[in-house]
Amino acid sequence: MRPSSNGDAAEHQESIEAQDLSAEFRKYIGRQVSYATHGIHRYPAKFIPQIPRFCLKSLSEAGDVVLDPFMGSGTTLLESYIMGRSCYGIDIHPLARLIAKVKTTPLEPGPLEREAEELIRKIREDDEVNDAWIPEIPNRDHWFRPKVLQELGTIKKHIWEMRPGPQQDFFKICFSSVIRRLSNSDSDSLIPEVTSFRRKLDQQGKTSFDVFAKFDNSVRSRLVDVRDLWKISRDVMDRYRERPRVDIIGRDARDIDLEDSSVDLAVTSPPYASAVHYVSVHKLEMFWLDMIKGTADLDAEIIGSARAYSSEYRDWHPKSRIRSLNEVLGQLTEKDRKSAYVVWKYFDQMRMNFNEVNRVLARGSSYCMIVGENTFRRVRIPTYRILAQVAADSGFELKTTYMYDVINRHLDIPRWNDSRIERDYILVLRRRKSAQNEAL
Ligand SMILES: C[S@@+](CC[C@H](N)C(=O)[O-])C[C@H]1O[C@@H](n2cnc3c(N)ncnc32)[C@H](O)[C@@H]1O
Repeated sequence: MRPSSNGDAAEHQESIEAQDLSAEFRKYIGRQVSYATHGIHRYPAKFIPQIPRFCLKSLSEAGDVVLDPFMGSGTTLLESYIMGRSCYGIDIHPLARLIAKVKTTPLEPGPLEREAEELIRKIREDDEVNDAWIPEIPNRDHWFRPKVLQELGTIKKHIWEMRPGPQQDFFKICFSSVIRRLSNSDSDSLIPEVTSFRRKLDQQGKTSFDVFAKFDNSVRSRLVDVRDLWKISRDVMDRYRERPRVDIIGRDARDIDLEDSSVDLAVTSPPYASAVHYVSVHKLEMFWLDMIKGTADLDAEIIGSARAYSSEYRDWHPKSRIRSLNEVLGQLTEKDRKSAYVVWKYFDQMRMNFNEVNRVLARGSSYCMIVGENTFRRVRIPTYRILAQVAADSGFELKTTYMYDVINRHLDIPRWNDSRIERDYILVLRRRKSAQNEAL
């Protein structure tokens, strides 16, 4: 493989010294991390709002334009809005896009509360059989009891009959939030799973399948969040001359629909190589929301997915110019070529993202990436270090690194460190020149 003209920069970024911010982030717990609409829906691998806030505060000012190309549930978007920055968000995951939209759309509480009362009344008074509203779900009866299916169908009917718009989206999120809890899945498992423990609880009558009461509660508690966001949005209007915009602009972080040099700061936490199964985690909700017909197509588009066909890696050579990636590929190849390929493909897709973010960032602006280490097939992957090197080839220099011990993680990334201290890094990558578009 041809050595990179930027190889020195890549090697230079192998050794990383990080400033410790653990004490700074440790103090935020509970309500402080889920204020306003931050907690409106569960989402895997969310970061606490104080992390993007820290980046926004140190690297941008009010009126700037921010981008999160892997926005997930929209934490960066909401923080940008609160701090008077306009923000673009991208995510391949349809449920993430709906959560982010609802999370960042202030709604006037009065009319929404009246709409909620009306909706709940119609649902409770409906005595029709609403089978037609129950979607096709593989193994449907394994996941849901017949009565639950019927009653979810009734709720869905009344939400889907509303006028499309922000209010309807809000109720879709309230609906989505109860689906997992009303399924037969163990509520503690990240990916839906019907466990013997859960079956036992059901037999002992310790689980509730009161569909309408759960939906009612879901609406009422989210109305509190909406009121909070509405209040904040009034403050934002008073404080900033220009009202910050929030726009969800597309699906794929490898192909960004923005003009060259139009962004002042990018902040993100990317996916990991084969770590969180974003599609499986929320498949039940996405079936109910008519977002997917199956899981394969969406999974194939997720960066870091473990899905790969043998035709993709038959002629592929497990080799890279980046020393630490090369080491990882060597260890994984000893186990099997497919795993090595999946990891290589992850970094190659992240390279495409770095190239795109480089293009849309203004000269001298930064890309903050929040990322740690993980393991795959018992091989340690120093993801943050390899990404810093991939970024070097895409025209970024590593300006500063912060690190912090992770608390309150909603995340299931298999970690290397047996001591249970999980550590994440904030890489501050400054755009130095255009990307070279070279192979890894
Ligand atoms: C670590 S999560 C982001 C979580 C986010 N910071 C939050 O607070 O909710 C990474 C996200 O990358 C998204 N993703 C994976 N592949 C993608 C792609 N090709 N384009 C855009 N987003 C993608 C996943 O759907 C997931 O939502």
